[in-house]
Amino acid sequence: MTNFIVPFLGISALSLFAFCYFIFTALFVYALLYGAPYVPIPKYGLDKIIEYANIKPGQKAVDLGSGDGRIMIAMAKAGAIVHGYEINPLLVWWTQRKIKKEGLEGKVFVHLKSFWNVDLSSFDIVTLFGVRKIMGRLEEKLDKELRPGAKIISFGFSFPNWQYLKKEQATFLYEKK
Ligand SMILES: C[S@@+](CC[C@H](N)C(=O)[O-])C[C@H]1O[C@@H](n2cnc3c(N)ncnc32)[C@H](O)[C@@H]1O
Repeated sequence: MTNFIVPFLGISALSLFAFCYFIFTALFVYALLYGAPYVPIPKYGLDKIIEYANIKPGQKAVDLGSGDGRIMIAMAKAGAIVHGYEINPLLVWWTQRKIKKEGLEGKVFVHLKSFWNVDLSSFDIVTLFGVRKIMGRLEEKLDKELRPGAKIISFGFSFPNWQYLKKEQATFLYEKK
């Protein structure tokens, strides 16, 4: 019996490892192609986003590629109702844990979904930490969907055609015309 169980457990563990490795490699490649790989925003960028967002209670905000939820949680603590879209299920699970721990259920909502498939027209504030190659396509999407006056705050990269209102600490503030 033991002769059978040991190789069976070994093969099962190996298969599970191979499966997880495949899933996370696929997610990483997808994130590289259609968004950005997971890198959490540094504290100075987060502080600048909160300053630029200048949130009024009840405003609706969204983080595109919400990672571990740190931008969402900071915006909710500043008074916003926040949604986040994230394609990595592990990060979505981790964010859900953080939302519960912080007692922010009903204020922060994380969705396992690509932000390219979301209509962003209801949001007052859009935040992102992406990569350069998505900025042109994202600018077109935001231009079509956002209402005039909506704020867009990008950490790391600027949009190719829009003129930013402010830039500090690699953080760019825009307002939809
Ligand atoms: C650079 S990280 C930023 C995470 C978080 N916003 C922060 O600043 O700490 C980018 C995140 O976007 C996610 N992502 C990439 N492409 C995406 C897409 N199309 N839809 C939703 N999330 C995406 C990645 O999985 C990654 O967690």
